[in-house]
Amino acid sequence: MARRKVVAGNWKMNMTPSEAKALVETLKPLVESNDVDVIYCVPAIDIVPVVEAVKGTKVEVGAENMYIEEKGAFTGEISPNMLTDAGCKYVIIGHSERRQYFKEDDAFLNKKVLKAFEHGLVPILCCGETLEQREAGVTLDWINLQIKSDLQGVTKEQAASMIIAYEPIWAIGTGKTATSEQAQEVCCAIRKTVAGIFDTDTAEKIRIQYGGSVNAKTAPELFSMPDIDGGLVGGAALKPDFGQIVNYRN
Ligand code: 13P
Repeated sequence: MARRKVVAGNWKMNMTPSEAKALVETLKPLVESNDVDVIYCVPAIDIVPVVEAVKGTKVEVGAENMYIEEKGAFTGEISPNMLTDAGCKYVIIGHSERRQYFKEDDAFLNKKVLKAFEHGLVPILCCGETLEQREAGVTLDWINLQIKSDLQGVTKEQAASMIIAYEPIWAIGTGKTATSEQAQEVCCAIRKTVAGIFDTDTAEKIRIQYGGSVNAKTAPELFSMPDIDGGLVGGAALKPDFGQIVNYRN
């Protein structure tokens, strides 16, 4: 069975609630698609207005982060049940910006993955290497380690339903997209890692995105690679270009 492509926007720390509503309206006619799943991962404060604004469309909404407890004295954090109650279906976990600026490590991210599943949220788990790691030739080992650590305790049914996003750090926000061959090589290796942890059936079902300066020009070739099931899009998700990325086949 062929995997459905999934294109997600990661809005990062952009868009006030009113800007968010306006962006959803602008994108509405542009992101219609029958064969690609579309997700907007938005800042916490935009979740409620964006869920409201996408009503009547096929677009689903995700969060960019979450904490590992349901409630309590964790000032400034947001819980998985808050996200589901607000209408989120997805949550990005382990984005390189969270790993780098907020010191989130694999042990903590593993807890987040498990917690997301516990609440019925689909994790979009990010992984990726630095330029130094790529140049040192340790990319595949590094990513293998990230995936194995982050997926500890996950069942194969859960793994089959989730999304992994391969995002080379050197390609994020730099305008320097990985070549289709580079992205395919790593996404294929991730699928092998998943097959090793679980089985080939699970590996065939899990969806693996590429992220890092995806734009309307680079999306068609990237998304046509056999192990790349769509993209996690940053900058271009805030522009009408996102519609072209969703409709990369046309
Ligand atoms: P850019 O598309 O802006 O490079 O961002 C990629 C990214 O980090 C998506 O999560």
